[in-house]
Amino acid sequence: MERGKVLVRLNAFLSMCGIASRRKADQLILEGRVKVNGITVREFGWRIDPQKDVVEVDGKPVKPQRYRYIALYKPCCYLTALGKSQDGKKTIQELIKDIPERLYPAGRLDYNAEGLLILTNDGQLANRIMHPRYKLPKTYQVLVKGKVSAKTLESMKRGAYLEDGFAKPVSVRILRYEKDNTLLEIVFTEGRKHIVKRFTAHFGHKVLKLKRTAIGPIKLGKLSPGKWRELSKEEVIALKKAVKMLN
Ligand code: URA
Repeated sequence: MERGKVLVRLNAFLSMCGIASRRKADQLILEGRVKVNGITVREFGWRIDPQKDVVEVDGKPVKPQRYRYIALYKPCCYLTALGKSQDGKKTIQELIKDIPERLYPAGRLDYNAEGLLILTNDGQLANRIMHPRYKLPKTYQVLVKGKVSAKTLESMKRGAYLEDGFAKPVSVRILRYEKDNTLLEIVFTEGRKHIVKRFTAHFGHKVLKLKRTAIGPIKLGKLSPGKWRELSKEEVIALKKAVKMLN
């Protein structure tokens, strides 16, 4: 193999081109609808050189799309899912329908949670945002039931054993008391399911409202619920640095 040459699996390449999800791309390949340099390839693990090889689907050449990186404010009561939901619930797809590229959410938020989601068609970056190995901090503002005492706050800082293992936030602080409830800011580097809800519940404080305000260096800022914005070049670089895709 030539030095520096990067080979990509055919199914991954088709998904980067926005042709289909990887699973659907496998189907197209098995159906014999994909050619590489004029020859039909039926192995979805086939590796191609995107710089040189000509890939066609149904006789039409396909090219990778430009990468897009967006920040979306997912409002409460939307599923972090693409396409239509089975049970008629709204999905974030409706909020990004004016974007022609096929973008994927890098991480998820619960149906009744709100705040920042990053969506992209850059698979490597999306994987690193989600993978615990890269320890990207995610910041949440959490309104919990009851008044969190100083003692409980100290225990929260030390972490807790949940049913799927130990969980320890990077930081946790009280932002303010709201009547009989408490607004906390919690930062976790892991994305285990319902981590914030399960963590505060462990200390006897049920989550009333959950909002993600930052993912690594990317801030929700003044974005309104349901709206999205393109990340700036500087933000993309900062994000890539945070997950060690750049030095
Ligand atoms: N933790 C939760 O409990 N829910 C979310 O949506 C995100 C983090």
